[in-house]
Amino acid sequence: MKYYIGADLGTSALKLLLIDNCGQIVNTVTKSYPVCYPHPAWSEQSPEDWWNAFLSGVKELISEIDPSQVKGIGAGGQMHGLVILDENDNVIRPAILWNDGRTDKETAYLNEVIGKEKLSELTANIAFAGFTAPKILWVKNNEPDNFAKISKIMLPKDFINYKLTGVHSCDYSDASGMLLLDVKNKCWSEEMLNLCSVSKDQMPKLFESYETVGTLIPEIAEELGLSSAVKVVAGAGDNAAAAVGTGTVSNGMCNISLGTSGTIFISSDSFSVDPMNALHSFCHADGGYHLMGCMLSAASCNKWLCEDIFKTNDYAAEQVDITDEKLGANDVFFLPYLMGERSPINDTDARGTFTGMRMDTSRSDLVQAVLEGVAFAIRDSFEVARNSGIEINYSTLCGGGAKSALWQKIFCNVLNIKIGLPQTEEGPGYGGAVLAMVGDGEYATVNECCEKFVKIKGVINPDPQIAARYEEKYQKFKKIYPAMKQLFKEIK
Ligand code: XUL
Repeated sequence: MKYYIGADLGTSALKLLLIDNCGQIVNTVTKSYPVCYPHPAWSEQSPEDWWNAFLSGVKELISEIDPSQVKGIGAGGQMHGLVILDENDNVIRPAILWNDGRTDKETAYLNEVIGKEKLSELTANIAFAGFTAPKILWVKNNEPDNFAKISKIMLPKDFINYKLTGVHSCDYSDASGMLLLDVKNKCWSEEMLNLCSVSKDQMPKLFESYETVGTLIPEIAEELGLSSAVKVVAGAGDNAAAAVGTGTVSNGMCNISLGTSGTIFISSDSFSVDPMNALHSFCHADGGYHLMGCMLSAASCNKWLCEDIFKTNDYAAEQVDITDEKLGANDVFFLPYLMGERSPINDTDARGTFTGMRMDTSRSDLVQAVLEGVAFAIRDSFEVARNSGIEINYSTLCGGGAKSALWQKIFCNVLNIKIGLPQTEEGPGYGGAVLAMVGDGEYATVNECCEKFVKIKGVINPDPQIAARYEEKYQKFKKIYPAMKQLFKEIK
């Protein structure tokens, strides 16, 4: 028997998963760590917390198996986060995360002074506040001493891979979200590096996600109780890894991930750009490309309402009163922009808003409005894809929020498409393990490995009546943000 470790370096926790070479999940371990919000709309994390979670988590993960049978490690990681190391490999400052909104000036500079057209020509994307290049400029403008110390720039999961192997690597899917990669040609854009005052030797070496970047440093292997022959593959951005873990590979497949962020991911064999750049145009972990819309607060909106406002962890109890006849029949609306919003509106000033409440509005109406608001916001990106001629009749749904049968039904009817439920919601971790298996030579391609192992446990179909009610409600939802947009700027 051979074993592979898949890691999902998320925002709330590191989720580790051990699979055997028959694709069976043998064990899972979750290690949480805090997010720090030092100012409104800022979001940071300590890379050392990720590494400590990894060390203790892996030891637990392999405690019941013969560790000499572990052959590979593959990670999917939260994207766009800026990790900077000095010449002694010390972390210079906390990582600035994907949902951090501090860079509006730098984002505006890139989009308006350099120009969206130029950025799109160089990188296939425009600037969004959470992308890595505006963060580099922010450090340059606001922390010049830290900027001067930068020896290596990396993304979150690449920090783990660096600690494991000593190799400064990045894969194409994650590198795409830096706004420094020429996505079409899969190489760093020299012009973008110059614009950010960064040199090529500060940047990681680029790999395909399933390529091996190195083997374990002997001391680390010893500490983990693993062989130093264990291969570490480059891994992927968490959305590309989730796509692999849900079988969203090759052409025209779709996955929706309902985690802290919410994403819609459309795979493609060939490179393409959304003409309005509202969707990201990135490389995929299977060697191809994808288009993606990302909302910054998805399952986290429900977590916020339940845990921070209602002071409960029992999400299921909050949903029991929301019966089928209530779906699409609630008068309360929620804009899910608790951290500002990325796709498709690209507005760091946008905020969460309830509207339509009356004296008889109940607690469960608010819960329902939150679940629906997140689905409507994903529909916004879905509409962008549809309007550019992409036909989507089916999508898988993964991530923590996908465990709720009610939320599955809401998504299915708001989008009015069939929804496939993968055997495991742990999309990125499973995808990471699949990449490790391919890197170890068990399978020739990611697609082949996915075909063999990724299973769908059920498909749900839209209900025509509920879908019709949601269609009407979505048309109203669409009007709320434009009506609020200017006010958000004034009240920030
Ligand atoms: C994607 C994005 C998020 C993070 C979450 O562009 O920013 O989905 O990757 O971990």
